[in-house]
Amino acid sequence: MSMVSNIKLIDENGLRIDGRKFNELRPIKIEVGVLNRADGSAYIEWGGNKIIVAVYGPREAFPKHTQNPSRAIVNARYNMAAFSVDERKRPGPDRRAIEISKIIGEALESAIFVEQYPRTSIDVYIEVLQADAGTRIAGLTAASVALADAGIPMKDMIVGCASGKVDGKIVLDLNKEEDNYGQADVPLAIIPRTQEVVLLQMDGNLTREEFEQAIEMSKKAALFISNLQKEALLAKYSRPEEKEEVKEEAEQENHGDDDHE
Ligand code: CDP
Repeated sequence: MSMVSNIKLIDENGLRIDGRKFNELRPIKIEVGVLNRADGSAYIEWGGNKIIVAVYGPREAFPKHTQNPSRAIVNARYNMAAFSVDERKRPGPDRRAIEISKIIGEALESAIFVEQYPRTSIDVYIEVLQADAGTRIAGLTAASVALADAGIPMKDMIVGCASGKVDGKIVLDLNKEEDNYGQADVPLAIIPRTQEVVLLQMDGNLTREEFEQAIEMSKKAALFISNLQKEALLAKYSRPEEKEEVKEEAEQENHGDDDHE
């Protein structure tokens, strides 16, 4: 949030600089199974954000001393590509990336049935290729889909959205300019099935009423995005080339059985 407020972010018709209404989301597109080497993967475009997620595991945790005998550990790594932002991002984790990795990891851990996989790790790599505000929520939303693609049992796919305050108005899903020059940004993520809030932060200031209005708007949007996640998963398993692959795998397995006989 910046203190500079002489930039007009909402026009006389109540429209935002990208033409959206106050409660309108940016366009969202999710694709599942985009990487062959990962156990699960997803790609999300959310407004100007482009993020790819790879999931590995559950696999034996290494080094061994990190193993927890009663549950899986969840390692999330949020990383911004050097070319993802206007000014070249210095490679490697900074304070912000470490914070985002931590909160995303904790959120995912609260949805995954970690006690089913003792001594293992579940590794989640979130690579931001292009950033335009809201990357932590877009990354977490895509990570949940990648975990589902990896077949990891969860209470539900986590989903979220941010809302904030721009030119004195509460608006949904801030873009880069609104994030930079607005007055507040509140990212929220939930587990739809249980209604648990698994990520909630606030940058800037809101009154109690404004805060409640922002949360209400984000929750409603999250349920809409939850459907996009499910549709993306379904789409993978109805793609013709995936069906072919499944058929080939089945045939190979059958041949394998023949060899043993
Ligand atoms: O991305 P998110 O809103 O979750 O996190 P943020 O810390 O509020 O960052 C907002 C936006 O600032 C990012 O999405 C990027 O577009 C931009 N940013 C940047 O330009 N350079 C950085 N080193 C970090 C963030």
